[in-house]
Amino acid sequence: MDGRDLVRAVAELGTARGRGAWRSAWRHRRADAVALPRRGAERARVPGPLTGTEPRPGGGVLRFARSELLVRVTVGGAVFWSWDGAEPTPSYAVTGGGPEPDPRAALEADTGGGWRVVSERVTVAVSRLGAVEVRTPGGTVLRRELPPRWWEPVGPDPETEADSAGGPAGADSGDRAGAAGGGRAGAGGGEGAGAREARWLSRAEVPADARFFGLGGRAAGPRLRDGAYRLWNTDPKGGFGPGDDPLYITMPVQMVVADAGTHLVFHDNTWDGRVVLREGEEGAGSGPDRPGTSELRMEGGPLRCWVLVGTPARVLQGWSGLTGAAAVPPEWALGYQHARWGFGSAAEVRRVVSGYRERGLALSAVHLDIDHYDGHRVFTVDEEKFPDLPGLAEELRGQGVRLVSIVDPAVKAGDPLHAAGLEVGAQGAFVRDARGREVRGEVWPGECAYPDFTDPAVREWWGGLYGERLARGFSGVWHDMNEPVSFAPFGDATLPRSARHALEGAGGDHRAAHNVYALGMARAGWEGLVRLRPDERPFLFSRSGWAGMQRYGGTWSGDVETGWEGLRASLALVLGLGLCGVPYSGPDVGGFGGSPSPELYLRWLQLGSYLPLFRTHSAIWAGRREPWEFGPEVAEHARAVLAERERLRPYFVTLAHLARRTGAPYVRPLWWGAPEDRALRDCEDAFLLGDALLVAPVLECGADRRAIRLPRGRWYDTVTEVAYEGPGQVLLDAPRGRIPVLARAGSVLPVRSGGGVGLEVWAPARGRTGGGVVIRDPGPGFGAGEVERYAVRWAGDAVLVETEAGAPAEGVTVRGL
Ligand code: NOJ
Repeated sequence: MDGRDLVRAVAELGTARGRGAWRSAWRHRRADAVALPRRGAERARVPGPLTGTEPRPGGGVLRFARSELLVRVTVGGAVFWSWDGAEPTPSYAVTGGGPEPDPRAALEADTGGGWRVVSERVTVAVSRLGAVEVRTPGGTVLRRELPPRWWEPVGPDPETEADSAGGPAGADSGDRAGAAGGGRAGAGGGEGAGAREARWLSRAEVPADARFFGLGGRAAGPRLRDGAYRLWNTDPKGGFGPGDDPLYITMPVQMVVADAGTHLVFHDNTWDGRVVLREGEEGAGSGPDRPGTSELRMEGGPLRCWVLVGTPARVLQGWSGLTGAAAVPPEWALGYQHARWGFGSAAEVRRVVSGYRERGLALSAVHLDIDHYDGHRVFTVDEEKFPDLPGLAEELRGQGVRLVSIVDPAVKAGDPLHAAGLEVGAQGAFVRDARGREVRGEVWPGECAYPDFTDPAVREWWGGLYGERLARGFSGVWHDMNEPVSFAPFGDATLPRSARHALEGAGGDHRAAHNVYALGMARAGWEGLVRLRPDERPFLFSRSGWAGMQRYGGTWSGDVETGWEGLRASLALVLGLGLCGVPYSGPDVGGFGGSPSPELYLRWLQLGSYLPLFRTHSAIWAGRREPWEFGPEVAEHARAVLAERERLRPYFVTLAHLARRTGAPYVRPLWWGAPEDRALRDCEDAFLLGDALLVAPVLECGADRRAIRLPRGRWYDTVTEVAYEGPGQVLLDAPRGRIPVLARAGSVLPVRSGGGVGLEVWAPARGRTGGGVVIRDPGPGFGAGEVERYAVRWAGDAVLVETEAGAPAEGVTVRGL
């Protein structure tokens, strides 16, 4: 706790909530002191020399003196390897059993006493001491994982010796039955106190020119520079900026881009950990290269990992195959949405919605925050301030505006909902401590209990509760505070690490369950909504999550600080999450706290309008975020911004469906199609929206021009239609009213036109061709939508756009002629 925290914490002592936070923080600390195993003596272990091998489908097992390594190449090229007998399942991220082993891949002797598995897309080579290399088919090394090191508890467990009240303590560290997400050694298995876990370290080298991306939502990204990144979902308390880490969504998913190729590595382990990255350096002329390094230290859990190799598109396609296809939001959720913590009443909601309507500003949804709950209690409504919510919902729906509800996980102790939860299963729905007592924390409604979303029965119960939201007229849900948060003036503002969780029946503690708490909540909500309304795709987005969360929706990535730095960080998060397989996200436009200047607000709105989730939102203590609050000039520009988003909505629909089918995020880094282009790799202030558009937001105060690095090919300024040739850098005007957006020559964009969908086609360069894909909204259900392919070519002086069948396409406007 730093000085500022101390001052705040002491001040909070004067409030009931503050006192509750102190109380529960002390309780959590005490619970951990009693129930968490003390570290005790440890012994370091490395695999030692190779002693034998055994072929298995897709690879084999390599035995070392003190461990064993399983290597498996799967159909489609994903590589799995693990130490100490960990299997790919159970897993919170990987769906089904994971892909089948590739029958053509076999273990064979390599030079120098090592072994390798050769497959079409990748070669995995293992040295005599257990270093694992991932090589391209041409033999270039993309990643070299050095032999891992474990620190294992030795001797009697000081904890179980000192306090046997926790029961059998299931701490047989020889037990390798994996807990879902927890993995070997029971992840704190059994019903008693947490087990002592082996900690481990894995160090990898990557090419000197490589750049790191991913690790979930990182404010410092998208390029992750030298530094330490923690793997522990965290509410940073107050708005976050580029210096804050970790944030709400962390995941051990790393994309590494180098001249030699791109790879994604996923260490499938839900525990707390730390990644230390160091970019490499190329030897100037005669000097040797210093490779980049990535060091992963985990506090427990299995050492198992997946690696995917190929182009960025191929890698993310493989990743979505492994962890599940991204949910497609309903069509309306691709329009502009407005939230506010503190609407305060139905009348105020009506006032705001009319404000949009009267000014001709397109609005798709309004989000109600916790102030619409009765006493901040989840699944209730303050009937005085919102006397007829279903009526309000219907009225707004008639104006084309949906209502979305916040849903917090913590349940007020003693509430009827709490009583109902106690009836779930044999033990009730809530997280308990090692002695079987409910774990209580402090959140908005006061003292709260926490549903255990790692228990399938609890998920089913919780999912059913969303029926209440649907009956109130809500069309979607917004999950919040689900890291999970318990207010604390000191220490981690979450549950005690010793808290017990079902972990899908394997049993374990919060050390293994914390990072997948929100993922379980998202699953509960998603599955509940699908059961309740089987004909409609749910709309769900969540503050926290983990690898695989895209199956259940997206995220808005939390309370970004109001300021130019926050604006930049909000783009970093969207790009980074996309590269981790979470394509639907977007920031609080305008920032969460404070009041942005009109200029900052407008620049944020312009950026946000090209991001998948386009939402203004702010804190109850912050200024308002309706466009007209920033003066007539901003309101006028905002009208153009919102109108353009509406025009592009069919393009967003196409991108949503493509994300589901291919894993490609809507928002992609400039290097997406050219990862070998180093200048693009280092470019963090612009992005591609699908294949067709390049968006260059203004991220600096006072700027009215900006430099833009172009990928190869011809690009048109979409306003002036002037053509620029890439690769290279151009300087474009960015007056107050707009940010530069460029269209790729030859591209086809579905856009709203005259009540229907038209095709905007950008002329290919002379002598070149183009084309594109369109997927129209298949309605509110789960239809996949048909893929329409268009080809674009020159015929004499005209640009022809044809369907796959060779017929002329309809509704075409050619631009850039
Ligand atoms: C924290 C969330 O991040 C924020 O978006 C929300 O407004 C507040 N909780 C109140 O619910």
